[in-house]
Amino acid sequence: MITLEDALVAHSRVSLTNRETPLEHFKNLSEQLNFNLFVKRDDLTDLALGGDKPYKLEYEIAKAIKEDANILVTCGSSQSNHARLTTAAARKLGMECAVVLSRDQWQATQGNLLTVYMMGAQVKVVDVEDHWDLEEHARELCDSLSSQGYRPYYIPVSGSTTYSCLGYVRESLEIIKQLDEQNIKLDAIYTPFGTGGNFASILFAIRDKGFDCPVIGISVNRNKEECEVNLNMWWQGLCGLLQRDSNTPKGHYELYDQFVGEEYGVPTEAGLDAILTVAQGEGVLLDPVYSGKAFSGLLSHAKEGRWKSNHNILFIHTGGTPAIFAYSKQIEAHLIKRGVSIAP
Ligand SMILES: Cc1ncc(COP(=O)(O)O)c(C=O)c1O
Repeated sequence: MITLEDALVAHSRVSLTNRETPLEHFKNLSEQLNFNLFVKRDDLTDLALGGDKPYKLEYEIAKAIKEDANILVTCGSSQSNHARLTTAAARKLGMECAVVLSRDQWQATQGNLLTVYMMGAQVKVVDVEDHWDLEEHARELCDSLSSQGYRPYYIPVSGSTTYSCLGYVRESLEIIKQLDEQNIKLDAIYTPFGTGGNFASILFAIRDKGFDCPVIGISVNRNKEECEVNLNMWWQGLCGLLQRDSNTPKGHYELYDQFVGEEYGVPTEAGLDAILTVAQGEGVLLDPVYSGKAFSGLLSHAKEGRWKSNHNILFIHTGGTPAIFAYSKQIEAHLIKRGVSIAP
């Protein structure tokens, strides 16, 4: 059977970042939580304030370039990390970008949205029931751009397509190399689950390379059944692209939907506490939409006593940090609630 590495290099990729992200031991939190916590710092990808998207976009944009596109079109919530990083990628590659964003309560010209305007994307804000239901509007925008003479290329919400999933397969090979260099044998991997593109790709790659540790996805929007549907869709797609049997077993994985809270994008108490735990324990910033909620899932399992002092747990920090500036009021209120006095 062809190796994963060889199957991967057969696919086109453009380069958007210049280095691999670190895999760090969080010493203080490991002592506090009484297990070994490692964090893959994908918040430190070196494109416009970092995050997971460059890994995905490196593949998807290679397709756009093959199709001779000159404008990338995508969509998301008003504080979409994906809109920021797609705009940045377009600019880096000399292309234009247009984004359709859902109107919501986080749309101050702050955080991600501020950067999207700064990098010169065309921004269209629309009213939708569901943040993730923007495709129709983005397709309409593509039609309108085509009629103006542009050559648009549509990238779905979160940058997740079967092809872009190759990005986190590549990222996972990076993790495997780093684990080997640091001589770490993992007992579990935690990652946020949005569309599940990242989750499915990590699961796919580590199983292919013979690792059997549980992979744990903490949903930030969908219920568990919907997560399963997405996981299967990306899994089948990856089996096809990377020449694997479509019945390849997924092994041990777990999906949790109880850390979403009220809805996607609305901070939870536990997520805000998780942000403060990591900020004060390690000087590392999580975000209220993805990494904070995902880390609250990890903390909840830790509190239940699932992880012991001999366990090595990897958390994938997928970024999202710029959104904290759009959530400053909620974070400030939480700090006050936890006894921090904010100078008047
Ligand atoms: C910071 C961050 N983490 C995780 C995700 C979710 O990734 P996926 O949709 O592949 O599950 C996103 C999606 O936009 C994100 O911005």
